[in-house]
Amino acid sequence: MTTTDLKRLTLFSGVALIALLFTHRVEATRAGVDARIWVVSAKLDSTHPAPLRDKTAPSQDKPAQPQTKNAEETYKNIQIFKGLPAQGVMRAMTFFRTSLGVDCTHCHVPGEFEKDDKPAKLTARKMYQMVQLSNKALASNRVSCYGCHRGHVQPEPVPDSLKTELDEMGKKGAEDQRPAEQVYKNIQTLKGVPAGRWMMLMTMFSKSLGVDCTHCHVQGEFEKDDKPAKQTARKMLSMVGSIAREIYKGSTSINCYTCHKGKAQPVSFPPASAQPAPGAKPAETKPPETKPPETNPQR
Ligand code: HEC
Ligand code: HEC
Ligand code: HEC
Ligand code: HEC
Repeated sequence: MTTTDLKRLTLFSGVALIALLFTHRVEATRAGVDARIWVVSAKLDSTHPAPLRDKTAPSQDKPAQPQTKNAEETYKNIQIFKGLPAQGVMRAMTFFRTSLGVDCTHCHVPGEFEKDDKPAKLTARKMYQMVQLSNKALASNRVSCYGCHRGHVQPEPVPDSLKTELDEMGKKGAEDQRPAEQVYKNIQTLKGVPAGRWMMLMTMFSKSLGVDCTHCHVQGEFEKDDKPAKQTARKMLSMVGSIAREIYKGSTSINCYTCHKGKAQPVSFPPASAQPAPGAKPAETKPPETKPPETNPQR
C-alpha cells in the first residue's frame, strides 16, 4: 500500500464502511476502486492499531476487544444497522453528516441520540433502505447518500432550463396518446407511455446523463439493442420503479437527474479534499456516551 493509498483510506474509510453497510457483498461490486478501498479498510480495521484508522471517528469506535459487537448491542435504538458491527455506526453518522452538510442535531436530539423525535432521522432510515434497494438492483455499491445529496439537505432539482425544455416538448406531443409500443419497434420497459411524450423522455435521459442519443443508440436504428448503455438504462428504469413502489409507496421525486446530475457515471463519494460539513461544530460531533449493554433496558 502506498502513502497515497493510506491517505485516501483515512479520508475514505468512513465511506468505505458505508459501502459495506450498504451492500454486504463485496463480490457484487463492479467498481474496482471502491472494492479495493473497502477490502483494504476492512483489513486495517481488524488488524491495525488506531493511528491507521479514520481520525474523524470518535474514539469509542475502536473495538474494545478483538470480538466486535453488533450495533444493537452497543446502542439503544438500532433498526437499520441491526447485525452490523458497532464500529460502523459512527462512521455511517459521519458520512450522513458530510453527505447532507448538516450537524448531527439535524437528525438527533442532542445527547439523546436514540430518540426518534426529529423527522429527519426517520427520513434517513427510509433513505438508507432506498440506497440498499438501489444497490441491490444495480448489483453495485455506487449509490450513496452523497451521490444524490452532495453536501445539501435537499438534492439539487432538475435545472429550470431543462424543466422548461421538457415541459414544452411534453405540450407539443400531448395529442399523440397512442402507447409507445404501437409506434416504435422495440419497447420493453416503457410500454403504455404515450408516444407523444417519448422524445421528451429521451431528452430527459440524454440531458440527465450529459450524453448524446448515440450513447445508447445506433444512429438511425433506435430499435437496436447493440449499445450496453441502452440495456443499462432499462435496468435504471426498473430500479426507479422499485423505489417508487417500495420506498415512496407511490410517485417518487427520484429521477435520472437526482443521481446523475449531468454525468454518465454518477459520483458516489465526496472528493478527497472534502472537509467536514461547514456548519459542524466540534462539540456536536463529540461521541455520545454509550452505556454498556447490561444497563440498556431494551436488550
Ligand atoms: C441524516 C440524519 C443523521 C445524521 C446527520 C446523524 N445521524 Fe446518527 N442516526 C441516524 C439514524 C437514522 C440512526 C438510527 C440507525 C438505526 O436505526 O440503525 C442514528 C443513530 C445514531 C446513534 C445510535 C443511537 C442509539 O443509541 O440508538 C448515535 C450514537 C448517533 N446516531 C450519533 C450521531 C452523531 C454523533 C452524528 C453526527 C456526527 C449523527 N449521529 C448524525 C441519523 C443521523
Ligand atoms: C437517489 C437519491 C437519494 C439518495 C441516494 C439519498 N437521498 Fe436523501 N433525499 C433525496 C431526495 C430527492 C430528498 C427530498 C425529499 C424526498 O423527495 O423524499 C431527500 C431527503 C432527505 C432527507 C430529508 C431532508 C430534510 O429536509 O431534513 C434526509 C434526512 C435524507 N434525505 C437523508 C439521506 C441519507 C442519510 C441518505 C443515505 C443513507 C440519503 N438521504 C440518500 C434523495 C436521495
Ligand atoms: C440513457 C440511454 C438513452 C439515451 C441517451 C437515449 N435513449 Fe432512446 N431509448 C433508450 C431505451 C432504454 C429505449 C427502449 C425503452 C423500452 O424498452 O421501453 C429507447 C428507445 C428509443 C426509441 C424507440 C426505438 C424503437 O423503435 O423501439 C427511439 C425512437 C429513441 N429511443 C430515440 C432517442 C433519441 C432521439 C435520443 C436522443 C434525444 C435518445 N433516444 C436518447 C435509451 C436511451
Ligand atoms: C439511485 C441512483 C440512480 C438513478 C436514479 C439513476 N441512475 Fe443510472 N447509474 C447509477 C449508477 C450508480 C451508475 C453506475 C453504474 C453502476 O455501478 O451500476 C449508473 C449508470 C448508468 C448508465 C451507464 C453509464 C455509462 O457510462 O454508460 C446509464 C446509461 C444510466 N445509468 C442511465 C440512467 C437513466 C436513463 C436513469 C433514469 C431512468 C438513471 N440512470 C437513473 C445510478 C442511478
